[in-house]
Amino acid sequence: MPEAQVYLDNQSTTRVDPRVAEAMWPYFTEQYGNAGSTSHAYGAEAREAVAAARASLAAAIGAAPAEIVFTSGATESNNLALRGVAERPRRRGNHIVSVVTEHKAILDPLQRLERRGFEITLLPVAPASSSDVGLIDLDQLAAALRDKTCLVSVMLANNEIGVLQPLREIAEVCRARGVWLHTDATQAVGKLPVNVAELGIDLMSFSAHKMYGPKGIGALYVRRSSPPVRLEPQIDGGGQESGFRSGTLNVPGIVGFATALDLCLAEMAAETTRLRSLRDQLYAGLLKAVPDMLLNGPALDQPHLRLANNLNCTFPHVNGEALLLNMKTIAVSSGSACTSASPEPSHVLLGLGRSLDEARASLRFGLGRFNSPQDIDIAIAAVAQAVHHLRSLTSR
Ligand SMILES: Cc1ncc(COP(=O)(O)O)c(C=O)c1O
Repeated sequence: MPEAQVYLDNQSTTRVDPRVAEAMWPYFTEQYGNAGSTSHAYGAEAREAVAAARASLAAAIGAAPAEIVFTSGATESNNLALRGVAERPRRRGNHIVSVVTEHKAILDPLQRLERRGFEITLLPVAPASSSDVGLIDLDQLAAALRDKTCLVSVMLANNEIGVLQPLREIAEVCRARGVWLHTDATQAVGKLPVNVAELGIDLMSFSAHKMYGPKGIGALYVRRSSPPVRLEPQIDGGGQESGFRSGTLNVPGIVGFATALDLCLAEMAAETTRLRSLRDQLYAGLLKAVPDMLLNGPALDQPHLRLANNLNCTFPHVNGEALLLNMKTIAVSSGSACTSASPEPSHVLLGLGRSLDEARASLRFGLGRFNSPQDIDIAIAAVAQAVHHLRSLTSR
């Protein structure tokens, strides 16, 4: 066990809710059949569990069960969406539009496609000084679309600054030009109502471990009607998931995924209010202790523009990594934890126009289901102490 810490890194991953673990357990120990086995009851039981979970997940996002493709997580879902469209022999063309502040699980596959001859346009976002901070401009999106654009990919909720893009309006722009729209909704599903039909989305990635479910299971929503979205499979084999993604299904993971999303939906309204109040407590406490602190992302009184559980702040004149080393009691992240293998400053904060030093002096707090007001008090004290300590060293 790591030293006792207050966990405030829920944008990176979440603890599995004990109710989710309980629902998964029988599928490890008793109903452990392969959902593809047709010759015995073990297989049938597993198949039934998968069908029920698929139906429940589909209903939760306004999709049909056949439109859910299980994957190993949002990284794989994003890769399947981008490469799956790009590699279709009869796609519209070789141009893809996305955004500078996307997760690396979008930007890296796009870079690879670019090396293979695709043309990639990355839209900028409004700077930190703007009231539209982090948002794309719909006119710029419309102007970027070409006759040979085969896909637009815009994330719903940003994993670092929590900004919510106007997906419905984005979908209208894409639809008017007959271009498919993919969204990486990994940080949004389970946190806010997401309905693919209402939003007008063609493809959507999401993942269980951001919503108190297990790691290693995710899904890609693929629209199958009027007209169906066609994808080139990226993993061939047994033909599972209608041939979109071969491989033995992760039955306990799938059951846990559906249970996790069910719980999020049931508790969403109350939990959003609770997390917003914890976040406001955190912001107020930090600002009192460090008055020159900067907020990264939309204003806190704009709930329609941001996730309730995210707070990203810059503490000028300190180094984020040094801050982390000086805060033994809290687990937070400097930049995106998902890309922590690379120490460079956050491309999202740079995309907002923050300087290299400001980006390096930033922390991301991701609040979650298991946090209490006491946790927030501990975090405020830890950050205040570390910032003052580091500043005292440099001012000597
Ligand atoms: C926005 C976003 N997309 C994709 C991912 C990758 O998801 P996964 O860990 O399920 O592959 C993450 C987090 O890791 C994320 O925050």
